[in-house]
Amino acid sequence: MSLSICLKGFPENEASQVVQTLTRQGMRVVRSLDAAQLIVAGADAPRNLLQIAQHRGLPLLSWDEFRRRHPAPSSDAGDDHDATTAPLLNEEVHTLIERRPGQLRILDIWFDLPDSHERAAKFAGLIPTHDRFKHICMDQGFAETLRSVCIGARNDLPVAIEGETSSSKTTAVLWLAHLLGQPVIRMNLNSQTDAGELIGRYVPDGGIGDLHLAALLEHAPHFSPASRAVLENASSAGRPLTRLETLALVGREQLSIANWKFQEGWLLKSIRHGFWMLLDEMNLAEPQVLERLNSVLETPRTLVLTEGDGTVFGPNGDVAFHEQFRLFSTSNPAEYAGRSVLSPAFRDRWTVWHQATTAGEAEYLAMLRFLAFGEQPVIRCRGVAYQADRCAPVLGHLVHLPDVESLLRSLAMFQAAVVKASGTDGSSPSLGRSRRERYSFTRRTLLTALQHIDRQMADGAKPQRQLVREAVELFYVNRLRDAGDRNSLLSLLRAADI
Ligand SMILES: Nc1ncnc2c1ncn2[C@@H]1O[C@H](COP(=O)(O)OP(=O)(O)O)[C@@H](O)[C@H]1O
Ligand SMILES: [Mg+2]
Repeated sequence: MSLSICLKGFPENEASQVVQTLTRQGMRVVRSLDAAQLIVAGADAPRNLLQIAQHRGLPLLSWDEFRRRHPAPSSDAGDDHDATTAPLLNEEVHTLIERRPGQLRILDIWFDLPDSHERAAKFAGLIPTHDRFKHICMDQGFAETLRSVCIGARNDLPVAIEGETSSSKTTAVLWLAHLLGQPVIRMNLNSQTDAGELIGRYVPDGGIGDLHLAALLEHAPHFSPASRAVLENASSAGRPLTRLETLALVGREQLSIANWKFQEGWLLKSIRHGFWMLLDEMNLAEPQVLERLNSVLETPRTLVLTEGDGTVFGPNGDVAFHEQFRLFSTSNPAEYAGRSVLSPAFRDRWTVWHQATTAGEAEYLAMLRFLAFGEQPVIRCRGVAYQADRCAPVLGHLVHLPDVESLLRSLAMFQAAVVKASGTDGSSPSLGRSRRERYSFTRRTLLTALQHIDRQMADGAKPQRQLVREAVELFYVNRLRDAGDRNSLLSLLRAADI
């Protein structure tokens, strides 16, 4: 059972040890007696503590007595448990985000907010909106990634974030953009991405509108069978030609078009208009495409449009880089399938290279507690404690589950075990060993299962443990193909007491 414990009379050096021990056992250490269910007294406890406890109707135990009643489990708990998410005794906890007129502080970094509402209104569609972040738990790993993103944004440095799937890489960039009201272009890179998508390419002027389908159909008898098939397909579907179809047709039939124009890619648009550019899954792209970014990553940033009319972007060039332009990237470790190995020189150009930590049991528990109770964990950055503001629980029905605290702990433990067993955290998998493709269980799986439980309770389902078990079967067990894998997962489920 999880208890909220208030510690009294522990010398400072001892207190942090005690807090760690308690947190590892899943207890919560609270500062105020109002929030406590139990007081634990250290050697320096004040004499009137017993009276205070009696007055408040709270049980009081000495540390030794407490240890006797709640012996620490045999220590196989890994590093995951080390995160202390409750404030230490007498620790001042700062709010993670502070707003002042025209300014915003995130952790220890201040930003000036843009005073132009015009720009925000013009590009409103590119500014991430609040709803996609309301379930985000501001845990230690998230805060560390966020701080790197803040440093890049504040000091105009390119930031690369590397980490396993679901380690909040994309979310951290988009969330900061949301807070700052900053338009972002998120581009998902893959092996098909060419430099044209980033920089730009020539297209018939007026786009595909210039090649009227009706006019082309008149010429169709002179075209090759492949071109005729393309035209007939589009015509019978009642749609215009796509850009690719147009380009293929123009090339194949050697059509001459009076005017071609250079259509700028997302990178150029971002440079001109001051969008942030997020190159998501960067190392899925071919290295030669990425090398095209080299001069943009250098200081001062420059870019010569060799694909186009030779326009020079940069200081003393034809077009200056917009002062809000920033470049971010995310990548998975190179060991993942299909990832390019980035050259050391290319990596070096990303002056902020952040390794995002993979969530462990403590982070899953913090996330579950946040979803159920609306309480964010305490995180520490350069020796200072921060905590995002409490808010209404995102999944407010979960609190009605019986013995919810221990249930959430069991779920966090199960999630950490499944992630490890499936190799989603980068370790070698024990589940799905015979498959070419790994199973992937992430925070998203956990969130989906909980949303399902919450929705059922909202629809009147009786709050019982069985709901949790069913959701786990639906979203975890049923995904596995092989009976052996299913059995392994069921034993993880039993081990976590679900
Ligand atoms: N700290 C967090 N708390 C709750 N959900 C999170 C958190 N970080 C990520 N998620 C969720 O996990 C999923 C993957 O996050 P994402 O940022 O896309 O990871 P990555 O880019 O590292 O693969 C998303 O659905 C996101 O909303
Ligand atoms: Mg991502």
